[in-house]
Amino acid sequence: MYIALQYHSITNFFIMRNTLNIKIQKNLSSKLHEFNLDTAEFGKTPTDHMFVAEYHQKNWSNFRVEPFQPLQISPFNLSLHYGQTVFEGMKAYRMQDGNISVFRVKKHWERFNKSLKRMAMAEIPFEVFQEGLHTYLMIDEAWVPSAEDSSLYLRPFMIAYEDRVRVKVAEHFLFMIVGSPAKQYYSKPLNLYVETHYSRAASGGTGTAKCGGNYGGAFYPTALAIQNGFDQVLWTDASTHQFVEESGTMNVMFVIDGKLVTPALTDSILDGVTRDSIITLAKDMGITIEERKISVEELEKFFQENKVQEAFGAGTAAIVAPIGSITIHDRKYQLPPYSENALMFLIKEQLNNIRTGKSEDKYGWNDVIQIGNRVNP
Ligand code: COI
Repeated sequence: MYIALQYHSITNFFIMRNTLNIKIQKNLSSKLHEFNLDTAEFGKTPTDHMFVAEYHQKNWSNFRVEPFQPLQISPFNLSLHYGQTVFEGMKAYRMQDGNISVFRVKKHWERFNKSLKRMAMAEIPFEVFQEGLHTYLMIDEAWVPSAEDSSLYLRPFMIAYEDRVRVKVAEHFLFMIVGSPAKQYYSKPLNLYVETHYSRAASGGTGTAKCGGNYGGAFYPTALAIQNGFDQVLWTDASTHQFVEESGTMNVMFVIDGKLVTPALTDSILDGVTRDSIITLAKDMGITIEERKISVEELEKFFQENKVQEAFGAGTAAIVAPIGSITIHDRKYQLPPYSENALMFLIKEQLNNIRTGKSEDKYGWNDVIQIGNRVNP
């Protein structure tokens, strides 16, 4: 069903699908004119609106786009005490024809639901995820930047929304989508410290879920690494600390002897959407891919033989983040300076061209929102 959605202010109309009967309340004091992308810090400025849905009695309902505002939460809220929180990180891009593309919505939605299942939370139907996202984006479309390397970072998330201090699995949940315009996440090559004492995730745990606790648990070891002059840690597996897993907020990839080498996915590594996209593009370029266990010892040997040509992090926020050095057992291995023809940059450019409509989207990754459907009377 397609209908004209009308804002409360009666100034704007959108022609869009609204099968969920999403209620819209317009923010009458937009902050867009105060926003400066050049000076903005990542994730600090919200757009004017947010999408909200509630889960009660095994049903999703009360769909709405409303002004961005603080939530009212009881101090008894379960998520505050027991950590039932799951999120996704996605991006919307301004295409060269002015429309908006959201990158790999279905894959993000699938991962979101896997994380929710692992955290015993209500899964979200694709229609709610996608239509909520589209409606929010149509309304805040002016916040999607067009500058090079910029995008609107999207943060769908869910929390337990039930007030009980007793330990129990929540039955009520709140799903929201918020966004913030973003440029590059990291501005310089990263110095990593290979962590062989603390662990990010153990087998059988929640490492592959995008739940808040995984990030909170990583803060202390990361803060120690930062105190010691590093930017991030390179995590190793929790049981032996012999195998490289991921880095900070990203999957990790190496170019070794011309091959793209990355740790194979396990239940303690996040199944990165950017990781998957990079592997797909590299395969298409004829690059040999090795998804396998990489031991710290082996990595050290490759460094000593000067075979590590590139190392980089891959993630939605970071896209590709060059790694400048890796410190293994107090020995710092410096990566060579990267030219603009480094594989990571060539792949990043291809990704960017697909997202902005400069190259054909042959994998069907873009979920395109036609801004031409918007009518401003
Ligand atoms: C992302 O890359 O989208 C992430 O979620 C990582 C981080 C910003 C938390």
